[in-house]
Amino acid sequence: MTASTNSPVNPNKALWEKGDFGRIADTMRESGEALVSTLGITKGLKVLDLGCGDGTTALPEARLGADVLGVDIARNLVEAGNRRAQAQGLTNCRFQEGDATNLHELKDQTFDVVVSIFGAMFAPKPFDVSKEMVRVTRPGGRIVMGNWIPNDPTLVAQILRISSSYSPPPPDGFISPMTWGVEGNVIERFGATGISPEKVGFAKDTYVFNFRGTPAEYVAAFRKYYGPTMNAFEAADKNGRAGELQAELETLFASKNTSTTPGVTSIPATFLRVIVAR
Ligand SMILES: C[S@@+](CC[C@H](N)C(=O)[O-])C[C@H]1O[C@@H](n2cnc3c(N)ncnc32)[C@H](O)[C@@H]1O
Repeated sequence: MTASTNSPVNPNKALWEKGDFGRIADTMRESGEALVSTLGITKGLKVLDLGCGDGTTALPEARLGADVLGVDIARNLVEAGNRRAQAQGLTNCRFQEGDATNLHELKDQTFDVVVSIFGAMFAPKPFDVSKEMVRVTRPGGRIVMGNWIPNDPTLVAQILRISSSYSPPPPDGFISPMTWGVEGNVIERFGATGISPEKVGFAKDTYVFNFRGTPAEYVAAFRKYYGPTMNAFEAADKNGRAGELQAELETLFASKNTSTTPGVTSIPATFLRVIVAR
């Protein structure tokens, strides 16, 4: 189905269809696989991977034998996920388009586990997101989220801090995705669906971004392929400040790089792991 020229643009969808997030996801595969190996996923479990991108965590879930549905708002990433699953012979893993704020195509209480690693946090209307995640999880099932943490000193919050200083202020009523990285907000959002606070657990965890190239080349990849960074550069460019943004990000990436191998960049980033018992 092609979008009619009259249909309003969904900025959330447009942001993630911009560029090619898969090129950044390629640098996050090892941590995705390591994270999945800790989730107790076993053969036959029904797993929803929400905001799945091109399957960094969905494919490892399927390799453990789960029956996996990946849902993502970005059509290009859904298509890439299906191609990757097919190339790996994973007939138990499929991807489809959908919006975490309204999963109307999914029935109540369908999944044993709902996983959303840096995925659903990027949907607007966080209370709709928690409601939908709880609705599609079966009683006794689990929801696992990975959420970046606001003001954290590690990579992702710092990219956001720098980028936002070159971008116009967000529209009125905008709720930052990073608010999902605050425990009190998570408890409140799941609490609104009837989940009591003692059923929500938290842990700090680390993802490592591994890139074959220098920190400056990694910044260039973000500038070319990562929608939020592309937007920040477009805004900076309008004010003649793209060079300044580039330099600030290069300094950040170089300062966070822990690799001692020339031409390899490894950057750890802290996130909040959330586990909700349904
Ligand atoms: C940072 S990427 C992470 C993707 C994937 N979970 C991974 O670990 O590689 C964020 C993902 O959330 C998706 N996303 C953003 N808003 C969404 C929404 N409202 N509904 C579903 N997916 C959404 C984006 O399209 C993108 O694939």
